[in-house]
Amino acid sequence: MYLSRLIYTSKISEEFEQSDIKSILDKSKKNNKKNHITGMLCFNRKYFLQCIEGSRQAVNETYQRILNDTRHTNILMLEYQEIYVREFDCWTMGYIPETRLTNPINLKYSDNDLFTPHDMSGPSAYQLMLALKDYVPLIE
Ligand SMILES: Cc1cc2nc3c(=O)[nH]c(=O)nc-3n(C[C@H](O)[C@H](O)[C@H](O)COP(=O)(O)O)c2cc1C
Repeated sequence: MYLSRLIYTSKISEEFEQSDIKSILDKSKKNNKKNHITGMLCFNRKYFLQCIEGSRQAVNETYQRILNDTRHTNILMLEYQEIYVREFDCWTMGYIPETRLTNPINLKYSDNDLFTPHDMSGPSAYQLMLALKDYVPLIE
C-alpha cells in the first residue's frame, strides 16, 4: 500500500475545552499505533496544524474520522501526497505546544510572525513541522 502524507489545519469549535487536548492526543496515539500512522500535531490553543503519514488507506480513514470530530471546525487540507519516506516515524503523534510556536519560527515559514496556519502553503507547513521535530521528545 502506498505511503502517503496529509497535512491539514483547523480551528477549535465552541464545543472544544482546553482539557480536550489530552484526550485527543491519547486517543490519537492509541489509534495511530494500531494503524501504523505517524505524525505531528501543533496547537496554539486556537488553531491545529497536523501531519499524518502512513498507508494511503490508513491516512484517508484517519482523516475522515478527524473531519467528523465536532471539537474543531474550519478544517482545511493543505497538502496530500504520496511520499517515499516518513519524517515523523518516531512519533505515533508528536506534540508541538504553543510555547514552541514562537514569533521567529512563524516568521520564517509564514507571511507574518503569528501562528496562522490557514494562510500557510502546504510546503511551508511541512517545513515548519520538520524544523520543530527536534523539540519533540522521542519517548511517547
Ligand atoms: C485536532 C485533532 C486531531 C486528531 N488526530 C487524530 C489522529 O491522529 N488519529 C486518530 O485516530 N484520531 C485523531 N483525532 C480524533 C478523531 O477525530 C476521532 O475522535 C477518533 O479517531 C475516534 O476514534 P475511535 O473511533 O477509536 O473512538 C483527532 C481529533 C482532533 C480534534
